[in-house]
Amino acid sequence: MDRFDLTGRTALVTGAAGALGRAFALALAEAGADLLLVDLPGAEGLDETAQAVRAAGRGAALHPQDLARTEELPAFADRVRATAGPVHILVNNAGVAALERFNTITPASWRHVMRVNTDAVFFLSQRFAEHMIADGVPGRIINITSKNAHVAEAGLAHYNASKAAVDLLSKTLAIELAPHGITVNTLAPGMVDTPIDDAFPLAHEEFEAAYRARIPLGRYASPEECAGPLLLLASDAGAYVTGTHLLVDGGVLADQMPRTRFMPPYRSGLPTESAPPETP
Ligand SMILES: NC(=O)c1ccc[n+]([C@@H]2O[C@H](COP(=O)([O-])OP(=O)(O)OC[C@H]3O[C@@H](n4cnc5c(N)ncnc54)[C@H](O)[C@@H]3O)[C@@H](O)[C@H]2O)c1
Repeated sequence: MDRFDLTGRTALVTGAAGALGRAFALALAEAGADLLLVDLPGAEGLDETAQAVRAAGRGAALHPQDLARTEELPAFADRVRATAGPVHILVNNAGVAALERFNTITPASWRHVMRVNTDAVFFLSQRFAEHMIADGVPGRIINITSKNAHVAEAGLAHYNASKAAVDLLSKTLAIELAPHGITVNTLAPGMVDTPIDDAFPLAHEEFEAAYRARIPLGRYASPEECAGPLLLLASDAGAYVTGTHLLVDGGVLADQMPRTRFMPPYRSGLPTESAPPETP
């Protein structure tokens, strides 16, 4: 398992007060990394994430920053490096979503989603990549997108566009940074059990049941189930993986039709004598 060992590396996770951010930070800490935790100033839950990282025996430093303030991000990244040293693993996870029909999206709402979900990802990647090059760090950049970077979902024009933009900017950075040994990938979750969409004005249970029926694995992901794939992209185990997206969606994008729901229940086609032998 040495190839997953992150001992001696520093990882920065944005949106670290949130459900996925906490699971990512904790998994990186359990693999041996020290953590720099970024979220909005005063974000509820950031201390809890830090405590979980410290309980795992790793260092956790808080670096509050409103990532919507794009112009501040290069100086923010410089301050982080000056106080914490080189960042080996950058996880751009912070994100916002608002369920709004296309005709009700205001310029302010569009800009906010783009600033947090896209602009911050680009400008943090840009600055930290320059640090990685200057510091000779064979870094890892992992941008958290969504299945919505690859297929559309009604009511989320800005969110879908923001995530699709991150998919392609990541692939571009992967090419430009490959000569420096830095990998850039996106991790694209499907539906995860987190509070991000709690404010959506939907009949939640009904929506969730209808959506769950479409997921081949039959359930939402837990944040921890997204953290395992992250470790692959963050570690030496994923050293030759760059410029790609890793869907963690329970198979939902592989299935264009709800065919299995209308097929007879599965029955084994194996001859009865090929049943597994009884364990002694
Ligand atoms: N939950 C899902 O079903 C799901 C599915 C696909 C992708 N994602 C993506 O995963 C990422 C994490 O989502 P989550 O479900 O943990 O959401 P969450 O709401 O629990 O966490 C998001 C975090 O980002 C922080 N954040 C928001 N705006 C910020 C800003 N301006 N500056 C700094 N921090 C800011 C929030 O404070 C919060 O802690 C997001 O990018 C989201 O789009 C989530």
